[in-house]
Amino acid sequence: MSERLAPRVKGLSYGGDYNPEQWPESVWAEDVALMREAGVTVVSLGIFAWAWLEPADGRYEFDRLDRLMDILHAGGVAVDLATATASPPAWFSVAHPESLPVDPDGRTLTYGSRQAFCPSSPAYRRKALDLVERLAERYREHPALAMWHVHNEYACHNAHCYCEISADAFRAWLQARYTDLDGLNAAWGTAFWSQTYTDWAQVQPPRATVTSSNPTQLLDFRRFSSDAHLANFTAERDVLTRVSPGVPITTNLMAASCYALDYWQWARELPVISNDHYVLAEAPTPPAAQTAYAADATRGLAGGGSWLLMEHSTSAVNWQPRNLAKAPGALLRESLGHVARGSEGAMFFQWRASRAGSEKWHSAMLPHAGTASKVWREVVALGGALRRLAEVEGARVVAHVAILLDYPSGWAQEAPNQPSTDLGAFDEIKRWHAALWRAGIAADLVHPAADLSRYVAVLAPSLYLADDDAIANITDYTASGGTLIMGPYSGLVDRNDHLRTAPLPGAFHKLLGVRVEELFPLPEAASVALDDGSTAAVWTEQLSVTEATVLASYLDGPVAGEPAITRFGETWYLGTRLSDDALTALLASATGAPVTHRVPAQVEAVRRRHDGGNSYLFLLNHGDGPAVVDARGTDLLTGTAWTGPAEVPGRGVVVLREA
Ligand code: GLA
Ligand code: GLA
Repeated sequence: MSERLAPRVKGLSYGGDYNPEQWPESVWAEDVALMREAGVTVVSLGIFAWAWLEPADGRYEFDRLDRLMDILHAGGVAVDLATATASPPAWFSVAHPESLPVDPDGRTLTYGSRQAFCPSSPAYRRKALDLVERLAERYREHPALAMWHVHNEYACHNAHCYCEISADAFRAWLQARYTDLDGLNAAWGTAFWSQTYTDWAQVQPPRATVTSSNPTQLLDFRRFSSDAHLANFTAERDVLTRVSPGVPITTNLMAASCYALDYWQWARELPVISNDHYVLAEAPTPPAAQTAYAADATRGLAGGGSWLLMEHSTSAVNWQPRNLAKAPGALLRESLGHVARGSEGAMFFQWRASRAGSEKWHSAMLPHAGTASKVWREVVALGGALRRLAEVEGARVVAHVAILLDYPSGWAQEAPNQPSTDLGAFDEIKRWHAALWRAGIAADLVHPAADLSRYVAVLAPSLYLADDDAIANITDYTASGGTLIMGPYSGLVDRNDHLRTAPLPGAFHKLLGVRVEELFPLPEAASVALDDGSTAAVWTEQLSVTEATVLASYLDGPVAGEPAITRFGETWYLGTRLSDDALTALLASATGAPVTHRVPAQVEAVRRRHDGGNSYLFLLNHGDGPAVVDARGTDLLTGTAWTGPAEVPGRGVVVLREA
């Protein structure tokens, strides 16, 4: 379980990234006064301030940061102090051109944006750790210091590097994994296309070549790259732990948008789990379902325990094709949507909107329009709401359904040369989560080898690669009576992305009581009808039933008349990609899981509960009109005691301490 910011920050955390280096010092006092007005309790300070703190190699200038820390402390604002290593200064890149990242085509990418470094660069590591050590020594006793914020969104822009330094590091990583070249050749299946390596020096990152690279090389390179970034994180963490013991440490993840890192490995190394989430304004999935996924995925990384929403936006972002501002009320519902699912607060990018730079059109807590604005009024109101919700801190979300998520499986499935480019791995996991969200059923995202015993049902929407641990774990779970619902194209390959020799779906054909004879992906935009009234698209398979019962068959399409959905005991197999509605209906009944609370369709209900103590029902009304919910308790936001049904205002939120 993840640590908490408490007791260094009382109650729920509220604030945002604070980048004072963008402003004259005369603005700082006003910042702190307005933070107090908004109810800000903590800021993430100086995330991109490396050049400000170390303007030349070895010349550290901390006096301005000293003053800021003092001003913030005097104002009652705690500091999540950044190690500032996410954007190396220009002087560093010029002095160490070999630290610049190289793309698969061999093109060196230059500085002038941010995160322009090779994750395996020793020079970067050395200079970053020097800065971290200085910061830790200087501020470890500062009373404003609440947490260390390492780096920022690892791998957001520099996930993979193909330079010579990376090639050496990749070879060293492979040598540790395979001990000898025979092992590597076997794992990568290099007998194919005459790819056999006879000297380690021949082995490269998957640089641009004339046609498809070896898929296991691609997969291992992704594993290696995740480890390379993680080694940078643990190196910073270890300096902080040594120099500044006892202070919580985090780095902000992107659980709903970054698939470059194996976050399960990261979660093991990360004392406090925090996450950044930005709604995709024009995506077909409603914003609230996107928020629910991000929060549930982050809580999964926190082992079901506490985590913190480190960034979201008060209104528009600046990096989507059309950056839509949020409607009135959306900010409160989005922030509390995260809190409802276990976040111990709501933080933003960023405190004060920038006047210059590529993010000047990104919203902030204090917008360009200043305090005479909808955003500011909603920011102040949210501060008040979070203060009134303080008692939910530490309460846990109870979910009865688990959704399996495995990064290497998604990486292997999303490599080139698959039967269809339309069957995404991570997207499909999100789609199943959204189906449960529509059904009002709470879910945890978990690793396939995690303890599944507390769940009434486990969903495996997309588990193309299942290693031996995952297979054993899932098999044990079903043997003890758990319900398993598995999506198509699962259990086919081992950890090296080699097909298992058993009949398809290799790992699970016995468990499911079916054999896949042939894969029949559908043409683009085609759909098929099933005899239970549902429709499907993208994907079909020719199934032959060994022991399972057929629940639905295809009425048309390439495998008309053949089984589409089967059930064997408590294990279900979907050989196709059901429509959203059909998937929702199937999961609502097949999981056998209770809904969180009976609510009208426009209302989302989520519950947090203190072990052996109070339980809190969050009711988020996404409709314009008021909604009536059969629930009793005291609304923490207004103090209203609802003894009959509770009324949730249109676009509003009620948080009941349940009677
Ligand atoms: C070409 C090549 C074969 C094989 C097929 C696949 O014909 O000669 O080696 O790659 O394409 O369709
Ligand atoms: C990410 C980064 C922030 C900022 C926001 C903009 O989350 O961490 O620095 O760029 O995106 O949405």
